[in-house]
Amino acid sequence: MARYHCRWRRVLLCLCCAPCVLVGSLCVYVTLAVCYGMTTSTSLSSPAPIPQILPENFIAPGLTRNVYLAPHPTSSFWDLKPHGGALWNRLQLHIDRHYNPILMPKSSKVHNDHLDTNNNNSNYFQFSLPTLSAGFSEIGNLTSQMEHFQELPLQMQMFVNSMHFRDYPVLIEPAKLCGRGIRKGQGPLLLLAIKTQGLNFENRQAIRQTWGWAGRVAGATGKGGVVRRVFLLGKNHEESHVDISELLQLENRHYGDILQWDFHDSFFNLTLKDVLLWDWLSTHCPLARFVFKGDDDVLLRTPALLDYLREQTIQSGGPGSEGMKVFMVGDVIRAAVPNRVNSTKYFIPDSFYKGLYPPYGGGGGVVYSGELALRLNRISRRVHLYPIDDVYVGMCLHRLGVHPIHHPAFLTFDFPKKEGVEQCAYHTILLVHKRSPAQVMKLWSEIMRNQTECSNTILRTEKEKKNTLLIDPFSVKDNEGQELLTDPWGRSGNSAL
Ligand SMILES: *[C@@H]1O[C@H](CO)[C@@H](O)[C@H](O)[C@H]1NC(C)=O
Ligand SMILES: *[C@@H]1O[C@H](CO)[C@@H](O)[C@H](O)[C@H]1NC(C)=O
Ligand SMILES: *[C@@H]1O[C@H](CO)[C@@H](O)[C@H](O)[C@H]1NC(C)=O
Ligand SMILES: *[C@@H]1O[C@H](CO)[C@@H](O)[C@H](O)[C@H]1NC(C)=O
Ligand SMILES: *[C@@H]1O[C@H](CO)[C@@H](O)[C@H](O)[C@H]1NC(C)=O
Repeated sequence: MARYHCRWRRVLLCLCCAPCVLVGSLCVYVTLAVCYGMTTSTSLSSPAPIPQILPENFIAPGLTRNVYLAPHPTSSFWDLKPHGGALWNRLQLHIDRHYNPILMPKSSKVHNDHLDTNNNNSNYFQFSLPTLSAGFSEIGNLTSQMEHFQELPLQMQMFVNSMHFRDYPVLIEPAKLCGRGIRKGQGPLLLLAIKTQGLNFENRQAIRQTWGWAGRVAGATGKGGVVRRVFLLGKNHEESHVDISELLQLENRHYGDILQWDFHDSFFNLTLKDVLLWDWLSTHCPLARFVFKGDDDVLLRTPALLDYLREQTIQSGGPGSEGMKVFMVGDVIRAAVPNRVNSTKYFIPDSFYKGLYPPYGGGGGVVYSGELALRLNRISRRVHLYPIDDVYVGMCLHRLGVHPIHHPAFLTFDFPKKEGVEQCAYHTILLVHKRSPAQVMKLWSEIMRNQTECSNTILRTEKEKKNTLLIDPFSVKDNEGQELLTDPWGRSGNSAL
């Protein structure tokens, strides 16, 4: 009986004490929680406005060596200062973003439609130039943005100081270059646009008498077509003591092939000749079927080129076909890097440009369709000037999604050893760089004389497999060499332009 009683007392004791213990624990817990909350909140609120920052070594649960925890990445996934803040890349990033159809579908569509339907140049300028200048105003004082600007070569400094401007007025231009002697609604088959300088009169004369013959030109085997010629010049300010502008006027009156603009004719200003030529073409020669753009120290086998172009037109489905809208041929250089040797005239400091160059046609001479020239004119309003002219053309092509065609018969760097002395060697090429005016005259007459002998010779094809990385002989590999080229507008390119 006593044992029974004792058991009931224990049960009773348990029933009374358990809630007390539980309430006690709860009190302790609440007190501790409040205390902890107060200490953390006071410690956080004392340096008042600091937002919650993830500690450097915050550990998230996951799979790592210590089984339970994985570190979070300590830096951002994206590059906050792409290309190390190189000036050109920064300026261009601004525009590429603005016209990126994924980031800004509306604005890029509006702009494309606008560009497509608009042939009024003055409207066009008003519309698109603010974008190029917006990049400048966002970046501010360019010269203070480039490290050691004052120590850079003078031509680089001059380029940076004038790269925001490109609308230089025409000083001399040929009258009715493209319409003469051609049926209405048609343009010449080929327009030869040759970069020259005021004092290179001898080069111009040699070209006029040989490969630059204007008029109806027969092909080497085919029927050929109408060829026109124009020389592209800036102004030689250094030679101001010998004023050659009178002479150039005279030359233009005689030959009608001088196109001169009012800018300082220097190596880093050569890009202006491309940009201004496209603009000039769009109003003065929009119907030219093909444009050859090259230097005044090359030899071009124009008759053979005419045959080649006719063939290409037929293969691509005729003028106006999709193939013709993207047609450019030359000595294509791929994956070149900027020249970093500061003693050469090609030197580009890495504070100006970083990364690989897009594929481009070597500057000795390239040929493109008139349709592509008009597209280049429009897209060039969205690409900042770059001091190396052929690279700039490559940058524009890249933004149009156009891939230039490589043809081994364009010898921008002369014949490979020995090949040049073979008989009929010159009948295997379309272009060779560099030849003096005297050489051009001599070679041209020999080519004509050997015409029948060499009539079965075909154009060069690639002898050895071309190394696709780093062909630019002027370039020196830098640490960007391996960087992959990223296409700002995706692979398909901007077909609306
Ligand atoms: C271009 O537009 C301007 C005004 O916006 C006009 O005065 C000019 O005549 C137009 N030019 C052409 C070629 O249509
Ligand atoms: C830009 O910066 C350079 C050097 O920092 C200075 O000499 C120059 O006057 C500035 N130019 C302008 C337009 O502010
Ligand atoms: C290009 O020409 C413009 C206009 O004459 C001139 O201000 C600028 O300094 C030139 N740039 C170079 C690199 O010669
Ligand atoms: C060219 O580069 C060399 C070393 O790379 C340097 O010592 C020299 O000062 C540079 N010259 C100029 C004009 O920047
Ligand atoms: C023309 O043929 C002669 C031999 O008949 C040769 O020596 C010369 O190199 C050839 N010239 C050209 C430009 O093909």
